[in-house]
Amino acid sequence: MPASCKVQNMQTKQYEQAVKAAAYLRQQAPDVKPRIGIVLGSGLGAAAGILKDAVRVPYAAIPHFPQSTVAGHSGQLVLGSVAGVDVAILQGRVHFYEGYSPQEVTFPVRVLGQLQTEALILTNAAGGIRPGLRVGQLVLLADHINLQGFHPLIGPNEPRFAVRPGAGQRFFDMTGAYDAELRALAQRTGESMQLPLEEGVYLAVSGPSFETPAEIRAFQRLGADLVGMSTVPETIVARHMGMRVLGLSCVTNLAAGLAETTLSHEEVFEAGRSVEARLATLLQRLIPQVAAVLEQTEGR
Ligand code: HPA
Repeated sequence: MPASCKVQNMQTKQYEQAVKAAAYLRQQAPDVKPRIGIVLGSGLGAAAGILKDAVRVPYAAIPHFPQSTVAGHSGQLVLGSVAGVDVAILQGRVHFYEGYSPQEVTFPVRVLGQLQTEALILTNAAGGIRPGLRVGQLVLLADHINLQGFHPLIGPNEPRFAVRPGAGQRFFDMTGAYDAELRALAQRTGESMQLPLEEGVYLAVSGPSFETPAEIRAFQRLGADLVGMSTVPETIVARHMGMRVLGLSCVTNLAAGLAETTLSHEEVFEAGRSVEARLATLLQRLIPQVAAVLEQTEGR
């Protein structure tokens, strides 16, 4: 079999599996129609507590769903609402460094697409590269640099993933991948809670080791403000489907070589915990406003 056929099967398989997983989730929570999806990264899972009438579905119960193997990623999909707006929260994600394929890493976001989610809020733990960034700070993603060594859309295109007319194309624009309107909304919401949000460029590596100080100096020269091991594949498939994306990094540590201390997963996890409450409030206030933007721009 030619390599391209194998890849085609993979893409089609991912689509068919996402359809099945979404059908299962609709059975679990028939009244929840999530227009907004949220992915909670390392140490940030408690923000799922903002959902009312929450239906919690363990990843292990969802057909074809990958299981997180990392401490700090709890592994459940929570369906519920905030101020009358239906939301799906992925509490924990899987990563390429765990040995998952690009299709598996992006599968949960594909499933959100099948649930007709139109806006995706991606959160992560990240190392701060730009001078002046502090541990515990939340930073909006303005753009990204993909140095993970893979692209989740390699292989023949599967247009059925589209959630909006015109989406699902082979080639699509990544200018403005992190939605300017949603970012402005997040800025204003942050200001209303005395939480000024800076913006930054997120550079994704595969991990699992943290970087060397020389790599961080190189990334700084490339224009990166933050470094992490996730988010970028999810943003790419979300844009492929036509979702609007908002990215939020929690600076859990200064990147390698920028602080006196050495890096550990525990440090990253604990720093995430310290901002969970602020993140939860921000998301709670943001959700109704994002929903209003989706209403206004319907059919645009
Ligand atoms: N590097 C890569 N990924 C990370 C870091 C880091 O310093 N902190 C949290 N995730």
